[in-house]
Amino acid sequence: MTTAAPAPLLAVENLRAWYGHSHILQGVSLQVRAGEIVTLVGRNGAGKTTTLKSIMGLVPKREGRVTFAGQDILDRPAHERFHRGLAYVPEERRIVPGLTVEENLRLGILAARGGPGRGGRASRRDEARRIEVIAETFPRLKQRLKQEAITMSGGEQQMLAIARALMAEPVMVLLDEPSEGIMPILVEEMFEQFVAMKRAGTTILLVEQNVELALDVSDRVYIVDGGAVVYHAPAAELRDDPEIQARYCAV
Ligand SMILES: Nc1ncnc2c1ncn2[C@@H]1O[C@H](COP(=O)(O)OP(=O)(O)OP(=O)(O)O)[C@@H](O)[C@H]1O
Ligand SMILES: [Mg+2]
Repeated sequence: MTTAAPAPLLAVENLRAWYGHSHILQGVSLQVRAGEIVTLVGRNGAGKTTTLKSIMGLVPKREGRVTFAGQDILDRPAHERFHRGLAYVPEERRIVPGLTVEENLRLGILAARGGPGRGGRASRRDEARRIEVIAETFPRLKQRLKQEAITMSGGEQQMLAIARALMAEPVMVLLDEPSEGIMPILVEEMFEQFVAMKRAGTTILLVEQNVELALDVSDRVYIVDGGAVVYHAPAAELRDDPEIQARYCAV
């Protein structure tokens, strides 16, 4: 007797997307199973960000099929994804100036407010508990809860952006180049946090230029080139294939 593999948490089929008349995504297909870290790599301009944005409903013209937790989401309004437990940390961090680290974290809960099955608005006590959990996961933020967020380093702000997304207790997070422009010591710390997030049950779809580190933490990897997936494999397989890496992953 064979047991059917569990349905993927996120399934993208033949996704096409346009900016005005420019046809950017030519038919991207990928799957992410619950509990996985999956990474998209590829050259500048390959279509990685556009893939994440299209999944999130942030590219005006998109076609194909995207299902999350068994529901078609491609044509649903962008905010519904948050309510279903899908979070997105874009390249630009959108830290709110004038607010402290803690206040920025609290904003993350608003994104999930009132969503069906997401517990509705968090109580003050629940909010405090979530901040405590986040502070334990991100010791750097714990020391700076009362600091104005915008005064932190770029790397610390990026961690805040990720932590803020986690405040909504998402099922899955899409992260666009979280390590970009960040000093190496912080990058390593950040990747350790991805592993901790995975251990805590969060599924991750990552876009990353730092292929070596990404391969270390990922289960599987997709290479995007010219707006399509040109290769996918378990992370270990790409790690052992310097030729493919050189062909598609050079910046
Ligand atoms: N708002 C936009 N309007 C028009 N074209 C765009 C827009 N955003 C991106 N593009 C184009 O779409 C293509 C894919 O861009 P995308 O940002 O998805 O690439 P990427 O793989 O994320 O690259 P990078 O590694 O540089 O972030 C590029 O040719 C880019 O110039
Ligand atoms: Mg990009």
